[in-house]
Amino acid sequence: MKKELIGLTVNGRSHELAIEPSKLLLDALRENLGLTGSKRGCDDSSCGACTVQIDGVPMLSCTMLAASCEGQEITTVEGVSEHGSLAAIQKAYGDWGGSQCGYCMPGFMMTVKHLLAQNPNPTEEEIRQGLSSNLCRCTGYSQMYQAIRAAIEAEQKGMAAAK
Ligand code: FES
Ligand code: FES
Repeated sequence: MKKELIGLTVNGRSHELAIEPSKLLLDALRENLGLTGSKRGCDDSSCGACTVQIDGVPMLSCTMLAASCEGQEITTVEGVSEHGSLAAIQKAYGDWGGSQCGYCMPGFMMTVKHLLAQNPNPTEEEIRQGLSSNLCRCTGYSQMYQAIRAAIEAEQKGMAAAK
């Protein structure tokens, strides 16, 4: 199939790619840009492992054409760290055993970041609701909820210390 030039902005960097118009965003990220954090975990839009943020909103990159994302800000799990250091939520996932195989984690991370940006101190029920579009087959969710709570507390302490 004939390729077309499209421009994608990913994690703050602009890229020009020659790709088929039918190429999915997930495949363009992984195959053309080498950003393999985002994963394909299903074939029916049910797992959330491919979740990225488009203009700050979690979206399934397995169902979007890369070409449809021109002019939008794409953020993947590779863009979550802050100034070369782990973000609070990444550190908390490690500290609290928030993942085992880790396959689901990049997608969860993008959804959690959005949840906390919208609601910096969610209740447990709000966390459950907010993460309901992402599935994990091995960790169990309680460690994830503990990690999210720990990240919230770390952010709050950091803000209090900065005052
Ligand atoms: S790969 Fe499962 S929802 Fe995208
Ligand atoms: S940690 Fe293995 S699928 Fe979630």
